[in-house]
Amino acid sequence: MVSPAKGLTIAIDGPAGSGKSTIAQIISRKLNLKCLDTGAMYRGITLAALRDKVSLDEEESLVKIARNANFRFDYKKRYKQPFRVILNGKDVTREIRSKRVTAHVSQVSAYPAVRREMVKKQREMAAEGNVVMEGRDIGSVVLPHAHKKFYLTASIEERAKRRSVDLQRDGYEISQEAIMREIARRDHYDSTRPASPLVVPSDAILIDTTGKSVEEVVNEVLRHLEEPQDNDSFEKR
Ligand code: DC
Repeated sequence: MVSPAKGLTIAIDGPAGSGKSTIAQIISRKLNLKCLDTGAMYRGITLAALRDKVSLDEEESLVKIARNANFRFDYKKRYKQPFRVILNGKDVTREIRSKRVTAHVSQVSAYPAVRREMVKKQREMAAEGNVVMEGRDIGSVVLPHAHKKFYLTASIEERAKRRSVDLQRDGYEISQEAIMREIARRDHYDSTRPASPLVVPSDAILIDTTGKSVEEVVNEVLRHLEEPQDNDSFEKR
């Protein structure tokens, strides 16, 4: 079993475009917590494999890449995007969002041995606590003892619209229909894979962000964080 982290740990899970990254980044800044985007880590491994022409069917080679990967999330106010993703010393913030990486990341992240390496790294990064970690299996697998768990969701139309805005900001032009198809494909793949599928943890607070502004969702999360801890979840830890 994972021992509880020392400082505050917040887990945010949900499907693509549910608003996890935006909300995690704002909450982390407001509360002065580290923000860890685990989707960016799986994307980083996928990018490294594609660049090195490693076959995505070779689980062992992907595990090696995952084991040797060193991730850093760099925050500077002057950045257009608040976080830079640094993989083995190189800034990969933009490349990990490319169509090619997006098309292959579900396959890479479905390998149980790759996930084991990543979960190990993610727990190490969260060991000191004071962290907001977002992804698909944070509340269920990576940080089952997180102090608060959130599961964000939204209609597929709204999620596709948000992804389209993000991609345009990063300089990618992809039609909204294509994004919706891609999201539906990944939703299916991520929720039905045998290893740590995307699930709503039984003790997570479910927030449907459809039709809500970022500010509304942030306030909802902050309100929940102010609630006293329930004794039951303390005993479980
Ligand atoms: O959140 P995102 O779209 O950047 O995530 C990219 C992919 O990584 C997503 O399709 C599923 C996978 N992923 C995962 O399996 N587990 C996580 N904790 C985070 C992401």
